[in-house]
Amino acid sequence: MSDRPSYYITTPIYYVNDVPHIGHAYTTLACDVIARFKRLDGFAVKFLSGTDEHGQKVEKSAHLAGVDPQSFTDRVSENFRALTGIMNFSTDDFIRTTEPRHIAACQALWQRLMDNGQIYLGSYAGWYAVRDEAFYGGDELTEGPDGKKVAPSGAECEWVHEPSYFFRLAAWQDRLLDLYERYPEFIAPPSRRNEVISFVKSGLTDLSISRTTFDWGVPVPGDDAHVMYVWLDALTNYITAVGYPTTEPGTPYAHHWPANLHMVGKDILRFHAVYWPAFLMAADLPPPRRVFAHGWWTIEGQKMSKSLGNVIAPQDLVSTYGRDQTRYFLLREVPFGNDGDFSQRAIVHRINGDLANDYGNLAQRVLSMISKNCEGAVPAPGPLEDADQRLLSAVHHLLDDVRGHIDQQAFHRMLDRIWQVIGDANRYVDEQAPWSLSKTDPDRMATVLYILAETLRHLAILTQPIMPDASAQLLCQLAVAPDGRQFKDLGPDNALTPGTALPAPKGVFPRFVEHAAVHDTGPRG
Ligand code: MSP
Repeated sequence: MSDRPSYYITTPIYYVNDVPHIGHAYTTLACDVIARFKRLDGFAVKFLSGTDEHGQKVEKSAHLAGVDPQSFTDRVSENFRALTGIMNFSTDDFIRTTEPRHIAACQALWQRLMDNGQIYLGSYAGWYAVRDEAFYGGDELTEGPDGKKVAPSGAECEWVHEPSYFFRLAAWQDRLLDLYERYPEFIAPPSRRNEVISFVKSGLTDLSISRTTFDWGVPVPGDDAHVMYVWLDALTNYITAVGYPTTEPGTPYAHHWPANLHMVGKDILRFHAVYWPAFLMAADLPPPRRVFAHGWWTIEGQKMSKSLGNVIAPQDLVSTYGRDQTRYFLLREVPFGNDGDFSQRAIVHRINGDLANDYGNLAQRVLSMISKNCEGAVPAPGPLEDADQRLLSAVHHLLDDVRGHIDQQAFHRMLDRIWQVIGDANRYVDEQAPWSLSKTDPDRMATVLYILAETLRHLAILTQPIMPDASAQLLCQLAVAPDGRQFKDLGPDNALTPGTALPAPKGVFPRFVEHAAVHDTGPRG
């Protein structure tokens, strides 16, 4: 086991009845950036994603596809695994809830809850929405145009009446409120935390945690007539992946649990911030440290839906705009936690503005001036002036600020902060005008270009989590060895060595030219 501190981060596990779209890619992307950041910052990261394969919704989709649920999930789970390559995700483990390791973990957790007196047999009569795999109270429902009952999420509900095991959720109300109170960072952002607190304060009822009317699920230990409620099964994935029920010192569980962060969309916060910590505490296991609920994307102002035909596949964005560009846009455009709208205009604006004009142009100007005027090698700096010290100092202080923003999952702030320094550096180029110094004062020119090369080195190291490919290209162009790209290499100790030969510069952020778009129909109309 590593002696570095653990950082364990998870995505929700995705229902396999859908094809992956940008909403799914967004959740995993946010985790990927944090996972990459923490690895560069010296943590032993475990980054988990996977697929949620049991339950009535998946069973129905398999029937519609005319195959048995296992073959169906074997096939469609691969679509989610493929996202890893498409989006350049650095996932360490990909869990499927149909794996034996997971079934064993679910049954062990169930047994523990049973032994602790947290489960009893009863019968459930109430409303259930298969689309959400969630139970609803009658007072939460409205009537749809066809007379059917509809949940607040828009999902159609059906009346269910069957024997069911219940979890004693009501008994956990005060301890949950106490958890939220003692650990104010447990739920973020704060507006969502308040929603959860009012929900719990309004009163909890015991939760139905087994079903008998279908069998695509984990069998309840000792009672084969029941399968576990899919959310109990799904949430357990987070401890399966660290080896639960093996929890002794020295095991992956002991090293990684409790997880540092469960990243989820706002629609599934209640399951993660209410049910999950209650299940864990009831089984004498510690709850995760934090759950962050992000917002939802709409497309050109509309909800993404199959019927509107506006569902955007991550593959399409990546092939149209580029992989790093897509990653950058999704995390820059919208304050993380808020809902956001995807529009072609907005992404093109970001690509041509922030990436091509600001970051790309800075890199291109500096690297090509060094190539032309310094014989293609890192120039040797002379005495530093105030302006040089100011830029260097801004650059040396970036990591602390950026780390603070990442720990709050404030990607937009992190990027904003990095772009402030890019702006400072571009202004410094304009003020120092190294192109004129090449004739009047070559020594001063060398100093200015050295300061800029060091600035670029810092920027490229810090943008690796967001834009791994472009940052790696920049670092290669600065001849920074792959083992010199960690955050510990930031600062003056590992500064560029004058005289190091640099490869020929090459632009990394091309402008997006409209006719290059491969899709002129579809989501953007
Ligand atoms: N299977 C459950 C999660 C179980 S976790 C123990 C599930 N799966 S899901 O596939 O429906 O959704 C997975 C994630 O995708 C959720 O975090 C959800 O918020 C996110 N998104 C789905 N559509 C989205 C958008 N349009 N925009 C942003 N995120 C969205 O729920």
